[in-house]
Amino acid sequence: PADAPFHNAPDTDWSLTHNTRWARAHVEALRKSEIATVPLVIDGKEEVGESEVEAQDPSRPGAVPYCHALAGPEQIERALQAAVKARGSWIELGFEGRAELLRKVAAEIGKSRGEAIAAMVMDGGKAVYEADGEVSEAIDFANYYARSIQADGAKLEPFGTVLVTPPWNFPFAIPCGSILAALVAGNTVILKPAPETVYTAWIMVQTLWRAGIPKDVLQFVPCPDNEIGRSLVTDSRIGAVILTGAYETARMFLGWKPELRLFAETSGKNALIITAAADPDQAVKDLVKSAFGHSGQKCSAASLAIVEAEVYDSPGFRHQLYDAAASLISGSSWNFDATATPVIREPGDALMRALTTLDAGEEWLLKPEMVDGNPCLWTPGIKLGVSEDSWFRRTECFGPVLGVIRADNLKHAIRIQNNSEFGLTGGIHSLDDREIEVWKDQVEVGNAYINRPITGAIVQRQPFGGWKRSCFGPGSKAGGPNYVAQFGNWKTESLPE
Ligand code: SER
Repeated sequence: PADAPFHNAPDTDWSLTHNTRWARAHVEALRKSEIATVPLVIDGKEEVGESEVEAQDPSRPGAVPYCHALAGPEQIERALQAAVKARGSWIELGFEGRAELLRKVAAEIGKSRGEAIAAMVMDGGKAVYEADGEVSEAIDFANYYARSIQADGAKLEPFGTVLVTPPWNFPFAIPCGSILAALVAGNTVILKPAPETVYTAWIMVQTLWRAGIPKDVLQFVPCPDNEIGRSLVTDSRIGAVILTGAYETARMFLGWKPELRLFAETSGKNALIITAAADPDQAVKDLVKSAFGHSGQKCSAASLAIVEAEVYDSPGFRHQLYDAAASLISGSSWNFDATATPVIREPGDALMRALTTLDAGEEWLLKPEMVDGNPCLWTPGIKLGVSEDSWFRRTECFGPVLGVIRADNLKHAIRIQNNSEFGLTGGIHSLDDREIEVWKDQVEVGNAYINRPITGAIVQRQPFGGWKRSCFGPGSKAGGPNYVAQFGNWKTESLPE
């Protein structure tokens, strides 16, 4: 029932051999299969695109794992018309009716777990255990958003049609959560999946439809990022856009249409402080997980460690950090043992510079190396001596490189941490309660993590979203109590008193 306590979906227990065997069977089956071209789905019907593109597998350079359709202008127009046409019956279903469908979605995602993991291994380059966490998060989004705005649901008037433009780094959970939040509030949705992970998005939308989400309330239109994408973002029938992506993309959307109602979770340059009062074993473990999980390609990832001088100068800390990062196993996402999997594409300028170049005062604690001649696959890198005003301190690189900054004391460390255009996640490791109190009051981030990793927000327990340039719109957090309520206009009806 809706008022029962909320429970997060558990991840797969990988200590059980039969679970690994089960996942391996799904992954192997996908690898061996001939995947049919992923179509568009407009008004419930599959269509070939105006054009077709070959997808890539970051673990297998040169391989073409599948092709997918790309919508042309006429198809975008029909998708918009279909989304408008579907609004009436979807609103009529009422909040409870839609919420009931979300609960069915949660159950159906559970059944798709193996298929979804395999999809993310293939086009997302994700390690199996990272992909597994995404499936759990998607189930949580469905169950959690089904419980939102129940008391006042009748007074929320949806915007109409919402465009969802998700990222490739969480190709299952993020589009799923964005779509379900917009839908349960009574909007119809157009999904433009991330170009890199169309197959994963395809598995996800089919799961939603199988669960009973009417096909006409969710249009599936992979399309190019050029004029066609722009026409979708700026169309007057789009009442709001939910974007998860780069700060620059959000700015570009607003450049196209300044009055756009944009809900965006954007970039980060996140830091974890380690003070002299930290438990070094736990701090190193959490730092390595936060910096190198999904090879640093999380907007929440720790890109910087700000380490108090006493710890920074101790050889013990450096050895420990080196050993922990060097022990990660770099390899293909198809390899179940790999803990450092490929980045999504050949590094662009910023990541390449981060992987290969040192600025004044910097030295490698661990120098990244390309693996197996795959330009997408790099061993983790750690730079010491990063300075507060350096290029690396300022630039989001989105890959497996961690910069370490030496701080005189906690005050200095907090100043460095807050001296950022972004404010998504941040952390502190300290066993001193007074330090924690000071830090909690002063840190300028949306998700402030204490003595734990700074990635992997859990629905309801850690609603997720940032400050500053990490957020556009009202800033209600994904997986939090106010998220769904922002996808419509609230009406207060009053009678004479
Ligand atoms: N929600 C993810 C995390 O917390 C990032 O999008 O790591």
